[in-house]
Amino acid sequence: MIPKETIEEIRARCGIVEVIGSYLPQLRRRGSTYKCNCPFHQEKTPSFTVNDARQIFHCFGCGAGGDVFRFVMDYEKVDFVTAVTILAGRAGVEVVYEGGEAERGGSKDVLYKLHAEAAAFYHRMLLEGPEAAEARRYLEERELPPDVVKAFQIGYAPNEWDGLLKRAARKGYDAGQLEAAGLVVPSDRGGASGHYDRFRNRIMFPICDPMGRVIGFSGRIMNAAEKSAKYVNSPETLLFKKSQVLYAFDKARKAIVDTRQAVVVEGQIDAIRCHQAGLANVVASQGTALTDNHAKLLKRHADEVVLVLDADAAGIKAALAASEIFVAAELSVRVAALPEKEDPDSLVLRQGPEAIRRLVDEAPSALDFLIDAFQRQEDTATEAGRMRVVQAVLNLIAQCPSAARREPMLHRAADRLNLSPLALSQDLRRAQARSRPAPPPEAKPPSTAPKNAPREEAALLELLVHYYPEVHPLVHDFLPPDYLSDPVCRQLVETLMLDPPETLNEHFHDMSEEVQRVASRVQVGESRAIDAENSAPELAQRYILHFWKRHLEAEQAALARRADMTNEERFRETSRIRHDLHALAKGWGHALPMLETRLHRDVDF
Ligand code: CTP
Ligand code: MN
Repeated sequence: MIPKETIEEIRARCGIVEVIGSYLPQLRRRGSTYKCNCPFHQEKTPSFTVNDARQIFHCFGCGAGGDVFRFVMDYEKVDFVTAVTILAGRAGVEVVYEGGEAERGGSKDVLYKLHAEAAAFYHRMLLEGPEAAEARRYLEERELPPDVVKAFQIGYAPNEWDGLLKRAARKGYDAGQLEAAGLVVPSDRGGASGHYDRFRNRIMFPICDPMGRVIGFSGRIMNAAEKSAKYVNSPETLLFKKSQVLYAFDKARKAIVDTRQAVVVEGQIDAIRCHQAGLANVVASQGTALTDNHAKLLKRHADEVVLVLDADAAGIKAALAASEIFVAAELSVRVAALPEKEDPDSLVLRQGPEAIRRLVDEAPSALDFLIDAFQRQEDTATEAGRMRVVQAVLNLIAQCPSAARREPMLHRAADRLNLSPLALSQDLRRAQARSRPAPPPEAKPPSTAPKNAPREEAALLELLVHYYPEVHPLVHDFLPPDYLSDPVCRQLVETLMLDPPETLNEHFHDMSEEVQRVASRVQVGESRAIDAENSAPELAQRYILHFWKRHLEAEQAALARRADMTNEERFRETSRIRHDLHALAKGWGHALPMLETRLHRDVDF
């Protein structure tokens, strides 16, 4: 579907270290490879390894591994074609599809381009358009200076029905593509099918994905007196999924990783103001409910989330719902309630950057926030009131998959509610039994659980990959691939008998995922066994003899079960195998004649 040469061109232009490093900023050079904690399983010491020379990654902890495309597939949870598209965009390589399916991948490609061009158009309009004078004044009044406008690529959608339509048409886009991007709306007025711009006379905030590509817009009116909605947002499209996007995440990512903390506010302008105030780890939920997808995104980069929300009833309700979702994702959660009638934007403008910083620093844990909120709202003098508080507390703690995290929460809650931890933990067990089972504690490795290839077989593969010229002839001449017990290793040995390891990557995505993993593992592995006493060919010979021994022993065991032989034949065969095993045990030099005889005989049969 996508030509091999295109895939190789993208691979060559996207260095694997650069790509993975942009997803995992913690990636650091360690000797000849790069390492960091694995994004596909929980770990404290880095076993996730990227090998730049071989353009391969592998995790020694969970077995995940592959090339740059596999990484994007597993990390972004997309299929191969989408991963290729994403990396093509990054590398500036145009993907031309060979027959069929062009639409699917192709249109995603077009959508990214369209969004990038639309954002640039709106931004230019704001900076230069004569009709954008009011917009510029509005931003000035809201104290959003030019450097901020530039950093967030804020724009202005002109007050026309076809402002974007016209310009996009000139660039060769058709209305169908603009509609798929959510930038125009079909109109059936008067029966004639036409389209008009979704965003008109609005301040435009481009919404980016974690890689910084524009995938949608939020447009704000400038005049409160206007009757239409305060914000108009992109609809759900192939690129834009509201439940997965956090505004400004791309700009906050580095600070989130550095501080291991993410601050979540509601509005775009709130997030922008926080960044301007020096809080760079702030993202915005854009007024939607926070979801499990948001939690997973943050969990990959942070240990703790601070939710900044309105102090009103709706804000408290949202805070509690979000707390449960984040706690379930094994994040520490704190909740900062804003002073009445303030949002982060107004708070910073009125009281300075220190005010928001203090609010975040002093935010109580979600548990304390919840107890405070309920104690204010319930009559704790009554039994029923007290039980409602207990129930709410248990609901929150029950979300937490890890016992080690639940325990301090239980103690803290018991302390604050004047109950014994024992009583509370008994009720917790009941609450857990009632509620749905908690989600599994860890993100599973990307797909099928990696079954480790047998050690010796993987070791021989490593030798073959790293010392191909010396080891290939030995394996080729003396080891029938079916003597290997593991089908994955067998397939790789067979492949390597035909082609050198350099071409492994070319066939990478023709191989099953399991084969890809093992191929990556052996390419990243360094064959530590090799030293002055053990050269690669010597080690390979030892492994070859080992596999022969295993094979002969299995034959020996099978003899006893064979009914088609006379006792005499069986005896002759048994002693021959015993003799050969003896030769094997004495090393390569002694075994060689016997190997040749047997291989020759096998060929005759
Ligand atoms: N929002 C939205 N659609 C609306 C209203 C709000 O999508 N009709 C989202 C926006 O992302 C907005 C957030 O909810 O930023 C919070 O809304 P609100 O508090 O009303 O706006 P502010 O962010 O305070 O925006 P501003 O300061 O410009 O009034
Ligand atoms: Mn506001």
